[in-house]
Amino acid sequence: MFESLERMPPDAILKLIAEYGNDPRDNKVDLGVGVYRDAAGNTPVFRAIKNAEQRLLDMQTSKSYLGSRGATDFCDAIQALVFGDNARHNDRVMTLQTPGGSGALRVAAGVILRANSDTTIWVSDPTWNNHVPLLGSAGVKLESYPYYDSAQNELRFDAMLDVLNKVPSGDIWLLHGCCHNPTGMDLSTGQWDEIIHVIAERGLLPFIDLAYQGFSDSLDEDAYGVRAMFDRVPEMIVAASCSKNFGLYRERTGSLTFVSSNADTTAIVSSQALNIVRTMYSLPPDHGGAAVTMILNDADLRNEWLAELNDMRKRMKEMRTIIVAGLGKKVPERDFSHIERANGMFSYLGVSPDQVAQLKQEYGIYLVDSGRINVCGITSDNVEYLCASIAAVL
Ligand SMILES: Cc1ncc(COP(=O)(O)O)c(C=O)c1O
Repeated sequence: MFESLERMPPDAILKLIAEYGNDPRDNKVDLGVGVYRDAAGNTPVFRAIKNAEQRLLDMQTSKSYLGSRGATDFCDAIQALVFGDNARHNDRVMTLQTPGGSGALRVAAGVILRANSDTTIWVSDPTWNNHVPLLGSAGVKLESYPYYDSAQNELRFDAMLDVLNKVPSGDIWLLHGCCHNPTGMDLSTGQWDEIIHVIAERGLLPFIDLAYQGFSDSLDEDAYGVRAMFDRVPEMIVAASCSKNFGLYRERTGSLTFVSSNADTTAIVSSQALNIVRTMYSLPPDHGGAAVTMILNDADLRNEWLAELNDMRKRMKEMRTIIVAGLGKKVPERDFSHIERANGMFSYLGVSPDQVAQLKQEYGIYLVDSGRINVCGITSDNVEYLCASIAAVL
């Protein structure tokens, strides 16, 4: 039977990771992989997570099954983190624990398909390269809306609004909550307000993917879009990941929140989501969520986590500043200031696929074909080499 299958093309980012690993050059630089790294190139376990895990080890008395919703104390804690106090004790809001942000997106797509198989999810152009395959695998229709002008390195806000004003009401508009992947360019609060106004007026369903809360400005500022939307619309969906902001990548920790216009509808949506979970993976993994809950509910652990998150944010901003300064010296005729205006880990460098290949082959500098860089690959030791190499291929 298996002979009938065709080989799938390798995942581009996994291929890049393998190529980087096999490259013997000492001065190689990885700007490709989408994880946070410190100045030593490590993706460390947060100290707050280690401490929470130690307590869990001492305290946990059972690993028996939980329900398909996951741990309710995790759902409550993460709902407060994402929505602030606005959603507390609100029976229009239901959160479930999911295997990462990806699990949340996939369950949401399943619920969307059951609710209306004719609807379309609109994603930004460009968007995270797994959005379309992941959401599409549920069978929902997808379209893209203009988001970023890579020639000018700025948002295509007017073009976006134009499409938003024309899509059929009832369609779903997917937004990145902050730290847009791959461009790092986010809506300003004023632009969020304009988008929210049109979504509310036109009866569209907003779907926010919040994968980097705390990586841009602060936990609260990064949730501006989610919270302002929640205040204005009857229905919304939020997928939130704990992979980056708690460094829990492989523990598969995330959440999915549905907001409906009344408690009865929320109970129905919830039953559908739980049915999808039960028939897909039964229940989410517990460990990462248990550590997150402990951190969010304990003042000392929470402060420790916040301090670590602050340091990470500071490092990402500093790396943006030094690469823009370095490129400014080596390639004065070009403007790289968009890299400093962007948030989180990613930016477009503004190089062609051929230049990406040349950077890899000649200089051992690895980035994905789109020219997206992860600024965490930059250090004060390699920035000079990076800028000289980029200048050479440009
Ligand atoms: C925009 C976006 N959404 C969702 C995810 C998924 O994160 P997770 O690892 O929690 O599934 C990512 C991960 O890179 C992402 O960039």
